[in-house]
Amino acid sequence: MLRRLHAKGFKSLVDLEIEFPLLTVLFGPNASGKSNIIEAAQTISRCGTARTLSDAFDQSIRGYPLEAFSFGPDGLAGHLRRGAVEMELDAVVGAQGDDYRYRVCVQAEPGTGDLATKDEYLARLTRQGDPWGRPVIERVENRLRIRRKSKPAHPREEPTGGNHTMLSDLRLAGPEYAAIERCRREFEEWRVYYLDPRVAMRAARPPAGVRDIGALGEDIAPFLHRLRSDEPKRYAAVSRTLRSIIPSVDAVNVDLDERRATLDIQIIQDGCSYSSRVISEGTLRVLALCSICTNPWASGLVAFEEPENGVHPRRLELIAQMLVSLSLSQGRQVIVTTHSPLFCDAVLRLTRDRREAVGLYAVRRDREGTKVTPFAEELGTLFVDTGLADGLTSPAEDGLFQEMLLRGWLDE
Ligand SMILES: Nc1ncnc2c1ncn2[C@@H]1O[C@H](COP(=O)(O)OP(=O)(O)O)[C@@H](O)[C@H]1O
Ligand SMILES: [Mg+2]
Repeated sequence: MLRRLHAKGFKSLVDLEIEFPLLTVLFGPNASGKSNIIEAAQTISRCGTARTLSDAFDQSIRGYPLEAFSFGPDGLAGHLRRGAVEMELDAVVGAQGDDYRYRVCVQAEPGTGDLATKDEYLARLTRQGDPWGRPVIERVENRLRIRRKSKPAHPREEPTGGNHTMLSDLRLAGPEYAAIERCRREFEEWRVYYLDPRVAMRAARPPAGVRDIGALGEDIAPFLHRLRSDEPKRYAAVSRTLRSIIPSVDAVNVDLDERRATLDIQIIQDGCSYSSRVISEGTLRVLALCSICTNPWASGLVAFEEPENGVHPRRLELIAQMLVSLSLSQGRQVIVTTHSPLFCDAVLRLTRDRREAVGLYAVRRDREGTKVTPFAEELGTLFVDTGLADGLTSPAEDGLFQEMLLRGWLDE
């Protein structure tokens, strides 16, 4: 679980500290930095898990690696004129019952494109949030000290400036490096989705042993195929949930084309069958969301963008219910970005008795970078047109999702 993140020098997050409870909603206008917040979380997890920093800053982060470092007033050209640029990502992470503080400072050399770990720190925290004993990883002058559990007074030393972090170094494993391994495992479980219903989600794929739909949604067909064979009740729940959000859908099928050995999703809509090549983008997105929320094999943080996309405003409440249930009932940490006041309003209403578990932030950007302000319920309801919300909620749908949960349709 990501409890807190302090980013300095990451894109528009010039200096931003933000707390993440079980459910975080980032609300704000375009280009305010919502996606950058998710990317910063993804970047620290990738720095702690990818084989090299170059891998950590590859295509999964938008732009060139150098563009991930906050620009000054002179933009990318200014970076190129400098000898080196830096960012620091500092997080409190909960892993297997303990909290850890992990910080990494990455330096880029604009001339060569080289990325290097300038500083790294890992410590287990006490309940009060102080380091518990000596740090597991810390920098002392130009070296990184890595402490083994049994011989803390005789740390291993590595030079700073490498193209990978110590946390991601697979040689540091086993009981001697238990804290490092736990944090690395925690980061490995985080999932950030950038659903691509235009291309990736439409492509036919061969059956595969996947346990997730893939970051772009590209493995949705093999995922559903596997879900149907291994967890048929969960598969049925995906289909039912999709139907509740898009009532014209009768069923979802995953067919194996025996000649091509590929899988294709079929949606039965008004009695007719449609392949993933022609299903609407909105339907594919909702199907992906239902798959993520029903995945029995995943447990870590999940982040994605604008769950309202492709959903009729009248069904937004159901999407909000699905995410509230994923986080507050199933205990999976969720971070979403949104443009929709109706979605925020639905989240606020649905979580009235669990306020401490929900962070609803207004994200904005000024000359100094991205800022977030938590907003209170009063403020939340103020800007929502309740007349509009009422008009969009038909009595027939009220509690439909609740009903499904109560009847255990969404359980295993
Ligand atoms: N390296 C950078 N330095 C400063 N600002 C950046 C950098 N890279 C991107 N940005 C800013 O971040 C904005 C995009 O932020 P994003 O998180 O995608 O916004 P949204 O809130 O729409 O998700 C860009 O329009 C740009 O202003
Ligand atoms: Mg965005």
